[in-house]
Formats: sequence, C-alpha cells, structure tokens
Amino acid sequence: MSELDPQIMHLMRVPQGVRDSFPSGGISFDTFLDLADAEIEPVRRMFADYQCACMEIETKFKVLNERFSVKYDANPIESIRTRVKSPESIIRKMHAKNLPLSIESMQKNLDDIAGIRVICSFQNDIYMLADKFLEQDDITLIKKKDYITNPKPSGYRSLHLIVEVPIFTEEGKKMMRAEVQLRTIAMDFWASLEHKLRYKKQLTDEQLKELSDGLTKCSVATAELDKTMQEVYDKVHGLQSQ
Ligand code: GTP
Ligand code: MG
Repeated sequence: MSELDPQIMHLMRVPQGVRDSFPSGGISFDTFLDLADAEIEPVRRMFADYQCACMEIETKFKVLNERFSVKYDANPIESIRTRVKSPESIIRKMHAKNLPLSIESMQKNLDDIAGIRVICSFQNDIYMLADKFLEQDDITLIKKKDYITNPKPSGYRSLHLIVEVPIFTEEGKKMMRAEVQLRTIAMDFWASLEHKLRYKKQLTDEQLKELSDGLTKCSVATAELDKTMQEVYDKVHGLQSQ
C-alpha cells in the first residue's frame, strides 16, 4: 500500500461492499477510517486551496466585467463557470499519465485541477480580457495555448491560459496553478455538443468518420458566426479601420 492509499480510498467513498469485506490486518475498519481521516486532512486542504484559486480568478474576471460595463456600457462576459477537478478524474488522469499518486505529484503535473471558463460575447473580448487579466502583477503566465488562431484538429477553439495565482490563507501565501479557458458563446456551444457526441460509445469507424466530418463542418460554421458577429459589432461601434 502506498502512503496515500487510505486517502484515495476515502476520496472514492469506500463502498459498503468493500467496507464489509475489509481485510482487518490487525485493525478494525473504524480504526482504519480514523487513520484515513487523519491522512485525508492534507487532501481536503489541497482541494480547498484550488477552490480558493477558482474564487480569486473568478473575482478578477467579474471585476474586469464590471469596469468594462461602466466604461463601454456593455458586458464583455456572458458567464463564468468554475470547477475543481473531481478526485475521480484526478486519479484517472494521473493513472493514464503513469504518474505517482501523491499530492506533490498532482500539484506539479496537473495544470487543470482548478478550472475557470469565461464565456465572452465577442471574439475580440477574449483577447482584451486575457490581456487585462495577464497584466495584473499577481498573475504569472505559465503557458498560453491559442486554439482560436490555431484550432485543434477536432475543430475545438478557445484561448487557454495556464497561470499561477496567489491565495492568502491562514498558513500564509500559496501559489496555485489554474487553467483559464476563454471562449465565445459559439465556441462553447460547439465544445459542449462535441463533448456529448464524442463520448457516445460503440460507433463504427464509418460512423466515427461521419461524426468527425460533421463536427468539423459545425466548427467552421461557428467560426464564421463569430467572425460575422464581430464585424457587426465593429460596424455598430464604428471601430472598423478601413
Ligand atoms: P489534457 O491532458 O486533456 O489536459 O490535454 P492538454 O494538457 O494537452 O490540454 P488541452 O489544452 O489540449 O485541453 C485541455 C482542456 O481543453 C480539456 O480538458 C477540455 O476542457 C478542452 N478541450 C481540449 N480539446 C478539446 C476538444 O477537442 N473538444 C472539447 N470539447 N474540449 C476540448
Ligand atoms: Mg491540460
């Protein structure tokens, strides 16, 4: 048993069947749970830290949205969603990447335990918000992936920022890593439906090909939609340069 196994079992909410058949190994299951509870403390703290990082970043975007709404009489942000990756998907990802299951290894190897998705009205808002966010002197950019300029082969488009943000806890300042995904409503619409369709099981090769072709077509259509919307916006605001 690795030192984290009790924590992991606790996180996975050890089912009753396992509980009943628990090999005592000299200790009762209740004693085991007490031990696990003591060990689980650092894991709980880790999840709370990532939750705090989400809150910090969400607030930063809310502040930008508020300021822009006063300055330009329009909100660049439609909505913000945040999530801390579930223990189950963290474990799955660590396993898939063949990484050791420890808190240190999770923090070092996973960029997206804290995830913030910012849905914008127009494509230019994405870059404007990203610039204003990255300008802030407590934000450190680790990696930028521009899947808008260079869409993924799947057709996926979004701007991804892997950043570090400080959180201030009773234990002092901690630097937390987070993944910010900025997209338009059209990009989000495509990504959500693509995600649902991709995970439909038991498709033949031919059906998969049809699915991919259909999704690529939709991706091109949503990119065209974003472009046209941006042009309309620019015209309305008299910003077009030519
Ligand atoms: P991961 O190991 O999945 O984190 O890949 P990565 O580190 O190369 O990151 P990448 O930037 O490719 O993707 C990170 C996240 O972007 C995913 O968890 C999804 O939320 C989103 N994403 C990336 N590609 C796609 C895609 O083709 N479709 C959809 N729907 N979402 C995607
Ligand atoms: Mg990633």
